[in-house]
Amino acid sequence: MASWKKIGIALALSSVFPATQALSEVCTEIQRAISHASAVYSPSGSGNYTADNAHWVASSIEESACTVEPATAADVSAIIKIIGKTKTPFAVKSGGHATNPGYSSTTGVQIAMTRFNAVKYDKKSGTVAIGAGQIWDDVYAKLEPLGVVAPGGRVPGVGVGGFTLGGGYNWLSNQVGLTVDIVVSYELVKPNGDIVTVTQTSSPDLFFALKGGYNNFGIVTQFTYKAFPIDKVWGGLIAYGAAQTAEFNTAFANFAANAADPKAALVSGYALDATGAPIVGNIMFYDGPTPPPGVFDAFLKIKNISSDIGTRTLSSLVASAPQTLPAGTRGYFNTMSFFEYTDAIATAILNETTFWGPVVAKYDPSALAGYHMETFYKSFLTHNTTATAWPFYRSKKFVPLQMQFTWNNPKVDKIMQGFMEQSAAHLTVVANRDGQPIQQLPLYPNYGLFSNGAERVYGSNLPRLKAIKGQVDPQNVMGLAGGWKV
Ligand SMILES: Cc1cc2nc3c(=O)[nH]c(=O)nc-3n(C[C@H](O)[C@H](O)[C@H](O)COP(=O)(O)OP(=O)(O)OC[C@H]3O[C@@H](n4cnc5c(N)ncnc54)[C@H](O)[C@@H]3O)c2cc1C
Ligand SMILES: *[C@@H]1O[C@H](CO)[C@@H](O)[C@H](O)[C@H]1NC(C)=O
Ligand SMILES: *[C@@H]1O[C@H](CO)[C@@H](O)[C@H](O)[C@H]1NC(C)=O
Ligand SMILES: *[C@@H]1O[C@H](CO)[C@@H](O)[C@H](O)[C@H]1NC(C)=O
Ligand SMILES: *[C@@H]1O[C@H](CO)[C@@H](O)[C@H](O)[C@H]1NC(C)=O
Repeated sequence: MASWKKIGIALALSSVFPATQALSEVCTEIQRAISHASAVYSPSGSGNYTADNAHWVASSIEESACTVEPATAADVSAIIKIIGKTKTPFAVKSGGHATNPGYSSTTGVQIAMTRFNAVKYDKKSGTVAIGAGQIWDDVYAKLEPLGVVAPGGRVPGVGVGGFTLGGGYNWLSNQVGLTVDIVVSYELVKPNGDIVTVTQTSSPDLFFALKGGYNNFGIVTQFTYKAFPIDKVWGGLIAYGAAQTAEFNTAFANFAANAADPKAALVSGYALDATGAPIVGNIMFYDGPTPPPGVFDAFLKIKNISSDIGTRTLSSLVASAPQTLPAGTRGYFNTMSFFEYTDAIATAILNETTFWGPVVAKYDPSALAGYHMETFYKSFLTHNTTATAWPFYRSKKFVPLQMQFTWNNPKVDKIMQGFMEQSAAHLTVVANRDGQPIQQLPLYPNYGLFSNGAERVYGSNLPRLKAIKGQVDPQNVMGLAGGWKV
């Protein structure tokens, strides 16, 4: 009798508070299952709860039922088993730089990897083991005194976890490839809770799948990378005004076509200043204390409006291009791949900047439209020692565009998404006219707008990834978290 009554009350409650009721029970179960090294936080306004849900853009923040900060792989295993058993929506967050809503946020259980913050260099093997929950700035600071680096994010704040699982364009990519190309092993908590070390010899399929396959195959607690020597580098951020954009475009296209020194790299962006005039932000990098004459001369000759260029540590160079947004800023990335940036494409991208800037401002006065062009050395995609989930195509060099729109008003999310899609569609026409059949190229998962779909990201690798997914995660536990789903 009593138990019938209890069920009756539970049913009544669950029709009023369906999710909340069940979720708080899952949070309690997780709290009971984990060790004292780890902790669960409820929405009580605690600093940890807020930090665990925090993201680079406000549109990626959700109020989770609770957050959990696991400190050991065993605790991650306990958590994922409970999540799988109860089919609870969840998210895994490292640096929180995902710009696709729901990719590392949830109204269910938010797993924040922040306590996985070790950095262990092993001189003998020339590798460095890095905990999956920290940001690259902190990794560089720990490795710099040792004279080595595992190259990751190029600007402040980017997380180790998402960056590495999605590919990883880094300042040494011309010399060592994508960050996925230098991973030698993964400590992985599989969707069924098994804790495994994944290497090319132990499990070639999973090793392939984790190299760019995002969060489809489990939760990574630690990455082991090849380490590379690093000493003083040269470069930083230089900016040019509206009158210099044409000169800059020509210099950029020349550099893209003719760069002969793999130690030299560039990331260059367009935006509009407060008066609506276009400006260029150009980050130059050279792996050495000074670039040989000729390498960056064309960029140094252009009249600048601000400049922070010099010989410095990698940490200092990364810090020279801060990317903090005012609190509450929403935003998405979108991406395209080109075979190369030509003057025609750079000019069309500049036109997109001046075209969309005033349009987005009409919908939300705080909105900004920016475009970042990245070019790499001709052989930069040839450094892989195994096949990788991403990119599926390496036979010819291709380079990414990172489109970045930001705004404040949540009501214009959908409109901004549409504008970003229109902009990419227009630039596709321009690229085709320029002789570049770019539709066949992979889109970068770490920059892609969700509406592009996993097909455009994984292409011909999708069947193999689906097969591996079927074996590793037959219950589709990782499908309870957002992301590029294979
Ligand atoms: C300001 C800025 C600068 C950037 N600079 C670069 C750059 O120089 N080069 C470049 O290639 N990219 C760059 N990016 C893109 C960046 O690589 C992606 O945003 C990346 O996904 C961020 O990783 P994160 O750990 O910070 O993100 P998160 O939002 O924490 O995670 C991203 C995705 O990875 C999953 N994930 C994270 N950790 C784990 C884990 N341990 N196990 C399983 N899944 C996990 C999450 O669930 C989520 O789906 C930049 C982005 C921003 C916003
Ligand atoms: C989270 O909790 C840990 C351990 O109690 C504490 O050291 C840390 O400062 C907290 N972080 C925040 C952001 O409150
Ligand atoms: C930027 O412009 C200033 C002022 O004209 C000049 O002194 C400086 O050398 C320039 N910086 C670079 C790196 O060319
Ligand atoms: C500039 O961009 C807009 C929007 O994509 C497009 O309609 C227009 O044709 C472009 N103009 C030039 C000169 O390319
Ligand atoms: C590098 O990746 C390409 C494309 O996946 C693959 O064909 C090639 O075999 C890989 N290289 C090595 C050495 O495995």
